[in-house]
Amino acid sequence: MLELQDISVIFHEGTVNEKIALSHIDLKLDKGDFVTIIGSNGAGKSTLFQTISGAIQPTQGQVILNGQNLTGIPEYKRSRFIGRLFQDPLKGTAPSMTIEENLSLASQRGQHFRLSLFSHKQKNEMKQALKELDLGLEERLNTKVGTLSGGQRQALTLLMATYVTPELLLLDEHTAALDPKTSQKVLEMTSKIVEEHHITTLMITHNMEDALKYGNKTMIMKDGQIIAMVEGEERKKMTVDELIHLYSTSTHDYNDRLFLKQ
Ligand SMILES: Nc1ncnc2c1ncn2[C@@H]1O[C@H](COP(=O)(O)OP(=O)(O)OP(=O)(O)O)[C@@H](O)[C@H]1O
Ligand SMILES: [Mg+2]
Repeated sequence: MLELQDISVIFHEGTVNEKIALSHIDLKLDKGDFVTIIGSNGAGKSTLFQTISGAIQPTQGQVILNGQNLTGIPEYKRSRFIGRLFQDPLKGTAPSMTIEENLSLASQRGQHFRLSLFSHKQKNEMKQALKELDLGLEERLNTKVGTLSGGQRQALTLLMATYVTPELLLLDEHTAALDPKTSQKVLEMTSKIVEEHHITTLMITHNMEDALKYGNKTMIMKDGQIIAMVEGEERKKMTVDELIHLYSTSTHDYNDRLFLKQ
């Protein structure tokens, strides 16, 4: 489904500021995999997302999605099939447009945009989708998105990013700016949408509990490398303490680990 082949990203190569942000990343995911990603500040998590979404061209390596090599496909074209959410709730929605207009935009992803309002049937579908967020937004279709709270806005952004089911969903600490209760609500919502539509998803989080609670795999990144991938029975039994221990003791490359397992 998603395949990353030997990806390296080096910023300012050959200068005193040279920084290897990603180093020989190999990854293969199946359709419907929901991977949580943990790793300290500067580990390369966001750089990995930027490389997948086309915001950054890797120094080396390829991104392959559904057998298609994405090299050379610009970010705006990839956004037709890759949904993204960021930490900042202000990204991803148009603040001066209403909820209905924003969802109209989202429903036309990949097409030439026309500012047209929904038909009666579409409007009912949209209201139903909003109702499932359980934030009362279905009664506020004409509210400008800029006036919503961070949590309301992030929930709406999630709905927009998945309104037309993406091939891949990238969540970069998308609940980090929300209060704990709202954060859990948006995460539950995320999990529900992802599972319902079987969306292959990568979610970066600094919350170790969430890293184990959501998804079916947990990936640990350190110094631009994937140092561990936890899944299956090992993951089901894993405690937060064990995950932290694994994180602090894994030094070998994930590829060596795979190799050792074979
Ligand atoms: N545009 C850039 N130019 C130069 N260096 C960069 C650039 N973007 C990222 N880096 C560097 O690459 C490294 C990885 O950064 P990245 O943002 O991917 O980390 P991260 O794992 O997302 O960290 P955090 O948890 O803090 O968000 C860091 O050392 C960062 O300073
Ligand atoms: Mg980051």
